[in-house]
Amino acid sequence: MPNSPDPAPPSPQPDPPPPPRDRLGDHELAAETAYQLVHDESMLDGNARLNLATFVTTWMDGQADRLYAEAFAKNAIDKDEYPQTAAIEQSCWRILADLWHAPDPEGAIGTSTTGSSEACMLGGLALKRRWQHRRRSQGKKADKPNLVMSSAVQVRWEKFCNYWDVEPRRVPISLDHKALDGAGLDRHVDENTIGVVAIMGVTYTGMYEPVAQIAAELDRLQERTGLDVPIHVDGASGAMVAPFCQPDLVWDFRLPRVASINTSGHKYGLVYPGVGWAVWRDRSLLPADLVFRVHYLGGDMPTFALNFSRPGAQILLQYYLFRRLGRAGYARVLGAALDVSRRLAAAIGQMGPFELWNDGSDIPVFAWSLRHDPARQWSLYDLSDRLRMAGWQVPAYPMPADLEDLTVQRIVVRNGLTSDLADRFIDALAAAVQHLDRLTGPIPRSPGRPVGFRH
Ligand SMILES: Cc1ncc(COP(=O)(O)O)c(C=O)c1O
Repeated sequence: MPNSPDPAPPSPQPDPPPPPRDRLGDHELAAETAYQLVHDESMLDGNARLNLATFVTTWMDGQADRLYAEAFAKNAIDKDEYPQTAAIEQSCWRILADLWHAPDPEGAIGTSTTGSSEACMLGGLALKRRWQHRRRSQGKKADKPNLVMSSAVQVRWEKFCNYWDVEPRRVPISLDHKALDGAGLDRHVDENTIGVVAIMGVTYTGMYEPVAQIAAELDRLQERTGLDVPIHVDGASGAMVAPFCQPDLVWDFRLPRVASINTSGHKYGLVYPGVGWAVWRDRSLLPADLVFRVHYLGGDMPTFALNFSRPGAQILLQYYLFRRLGRAGYARVLGAALDVSRRLAAAIGQMGPFELWNDGSDIPVFAWSLRHDPARQWSLYDLSDRLRMAGWQVPAYPMPADLEDLTVQRIVVRNGLTSDLADRFIDALAAAVQHLDRLTGPIPRSPGRPVGFRH
């Protein structure tokens, strides 16, 4: 029998058209293909260890990763299905109420949030609602609320004022008053002031605002005018540093004027992104008409967050760290970050061209500017670009209103920036400066290049 002819070689399968990026494709992809596609594309993101711009945690230990994988399906709002996660959430904010010296932690009230942004909104809303109730009960108008804060607040507070129709009253920072310190407060506070925001760890520079000094100024104002103005402490970063590293600093509920405090679990709380906390000194400070009761998931559930569904895993991760690290562990981890930050600040201060704004000893964050030198052909923006070429993200940006002509650069030291890695950074910085100093003309600037960094 004649051999049957070889079968014709399969005609090559044409590659399926690449799935579109900005609209849904018409066909399915194999899971492995889709995985590889997303994996490869996200490789173009930066290297988290070399990111000295962000405050947010990018590393947790293996046990935390295991817990995360076990819990990623839990929905924090579904307290009926996940009552234990709800109980753990309560333990977490009680731990914080105790850590921040609430006079009676059992009588405090708190909640988890997606981060400080949401927690600040809740703190601000409670201030506004309490002020409205008081004004209306006195038969007074309650339509022109204002909130007093430093000009260097995080963009969050501008959003709060914009979204909830509150007039922002910014007390300008200056070279003499590098943070809100009580000076000039009386020119900004009046009967329509719902509260004063004090920041523990100013985003621009890492400095603490002296909350006790601000409270004392408000005490004097009350004696003179009768106005009783509460403080909300935005402790996005510092409320998880000060209790461990500066335990004698009085900034929290030890000051009777401090009504509420927020922090980001995902900053120096050391948890992956997605968790924040808001705590009120006692229940009377959170107006009952801000709390909703929800029945449709079964059970009777009080809720006063802005979001409804959100991941519950980060709450468990926060609890894991509270249990695992305790006071000693947080003091060790954050103390090490402060050591690195102080060393880095000292090294940068000694390099010559830079002037330190602060020394990195409040939270492990500091900023510097360039000394004036008419012969210099480069700016901190050029330095930031040059460092990025070596993999380091170190933002440069203008200071806020009234100081906007001053450009600074900032480093945020997080868990994982070891002193070894910090030495490598100083080498990279010195090499970048050396390169820029050799320039014989200014670097051309592309039009429309953003000069700044969103805080
Ligand atoms: C002082 C301050 N408040 C609020 C926020 C917002 O925090 P989150 O990113 O947790 O929403 C930040 C973030 O950097 C901050 O520094």
